Amino acid sequence: MKVIVCKNYEEVSKESAKIVADVMKKKPNAILGLATGSTPEGMYAELAKMNAAGEIDFKDITTVNLDEYYPISPDNDQSYRYFMNKNLFDKVNIDKSRTNVPKGDAPDGEKEAERYEAYVRSLGGADIQVLGIGRNGHIAFNEPDEELVPVTHVTSLTEDTIDANARFFASAADVPTKALTMGMGTILSAKKIIIIATGANKHDAVAQMLKGTCTTKCPASFLNLHDDVVLVCDEAAYNG
Ligand code: PGA
Repeated sequence: MKVIVCKNYEEVSKESAKIVADVMKKKPNAILGLATGSTPEGMYAELAKMNAAGEIDFKDITTVNLDEYYPISPDNDQSYRYFMNKNLFDKVNIDKSRTNVPKGDAPDGEKEAERYEAYVRSLGGADIQVLGIGRNGHIAFNEPDEELVPVTHVTSLTEDTIDANARFFASAADVPTKALTMGMGTILSAKKIIIIATGANKHDAVAQMLKGTCTTKCPASFLNLHDDVVLVCDEAAYNG
């Protein structure tokens, strides 16, 4: 795994945007695998700036997002579809019909997971997949467990995650109890992977991943099976 250590969040955002932009410049119809969360917000702002400046073009780009709550309406301001529209898609010249997020309002979650997996595979995987990392080493909604699921699937949120996210919803009862998520195999089907981490609270997960071994207790460690991964992090995430 290649590691780029930056001074701060701003540099991490610029460096990671540059890596995504390089893929877009080389391949104008690239498939971008995208992630939600607070970490990539700065990177999306940089990409929108580069698009406004005419440096990169989203006209022929296709996107596939990692995950979505289930069930949730795409209009709900906590949905990952809403996040992506707000942080990137509404700010750049992308064809929205080519932006893909698992459908949180699909009537049958299992069928939607199967459809999404087949769709990502039909594209041949993403040209570049952007990832954040959880404090516990999770990737998308692949949480530390005895076993990991390789393909896109419906997963139950842990009580801890429901509690943590309750503040964003009217009440804990309104937090979706499940999510649709790419599996580690879907993620590893990307040709290139960039994982972004900032802040000392990510240090333990980053350190475990950088050991170079694989353990289901840290799903991010499975990125060690891929030969083109770059970690872009700040000094706090790297050094603790
Ligand atoms: P964060 O989430 O970017 O909000 O820290 C990352 C993740 O949980 O994957």
